[in-house]
Amino acid sequence: MQAKKKIVASEGTPVRMLGRNEPCWCGSGRKYKSCHAAFDERILDFKRQGHIVPDREQIKTKEQIEGIRVSGLRNIAILDEVASKIRAGMSTQEIDDIVSAKTKELGGISATLGYEGFPKSVCTSINEQVCHGIPSEHDILKDGDIVNVDVTTIYEGFYSDSSRTFLIGNVDPEKKKLAQVAKECMEEGIRAVKPWTFLGDMGNAVNEYAKKYGYSIVREIGGHGVGIGFHEEPWVSYVSRPGEEMLMVPGMVFTIEPMVNMGRCDVYVDEENDWTVYTDDGKPSAQWEVTVAVTEEGAEILAY
Ligand code: MF3
Ligand code: CO
Ligand code: CO
Repeated sequence: MQAKKKIVASEGTPVRMLGRNEPCWCGSGRKYKSCHAAFDERILDFKRQGHIVPDREQIKTKEQIEGIRVSGLRNIAILDEVASKIRAGMSTQEIDDIVSAKTKELGGISATLGYEGFPKSVCTSINEQVCHGIPSEHDILKDGDIVNVDVTTIYEGFYSDSSRTFLIGNVDPEKKKLAQVAKECMEEGIRAVKPWTFLGDMGNAVNEYAKKYGYSIVREIGGHGVGIGFHEEPWVSYVSRPGEEMLMVPGMVFTIEPMVNMGRCDVYVDEENDWTVYTDDGKPSAQWEVTVAVTEEGAEILAY
């Protein structure tokens, strides 16, 4: 999509075993045997034990991660711009205007605009709206609201995706706590990103953290691989079990974006616009999202 210099290591090409003296798939220019051969073997070991493992599509090269990092810096700047301007009395359409202008100024493209028919450059989800709220001039932020602003940017073909929940004016302590714990859930997820452990370990850590406060996490909507496309494999749950789901290996890039509900986890989709997700019980929901890369040590945050 709009890629000036889209770098794709393996798009469309089936993964095949490389000869040990062939150049490595990662683009390092080194021989496979002295580059990623042992790494691939380690992944295969997990696969033989019955685990879900990433294929090469889900493992980004250093060059691709750099592209996502650069895109992520734009995504961060756009959210910073929103943070400096958001206030009571503003419509969510004005947030869309801010995002759209800043994205353009930075040479990026909004990934949400036109995505599967989504009509705006950002998602704005207020209070009991869980996600995918559509900006509108009729929706005015008022004192005491919490609003999630979710921005996804394409820059030189690379996607980055992050969101924050903003407090509007004086928010009551219960809702403030929810917004704070949603952020901490995301941070808990980041801490649980470790190579050669499982997405289920991370998802479980997030869920356990939310449960401590009596909150619940939405099950049907999760995170996703991101970078070369908007929503890539794997799908990332935050209510998963330790030792289950996909193995995390260095080079994988995905989002951590648990949706944390004050009440029950059940949600429904607005029948009229077919997008906006609400809590079933009408209680508030909060969300923070980051794009992370798995490194040898843990996680690198690429968009916040
Ligand atoms: N940014 C959202 C996410 O975190 C996806 C929004 S898709 C849209 O995955 F079409 F609603 F914009
Ligand atoms: Co997002
Ligand atoms: Co996302």
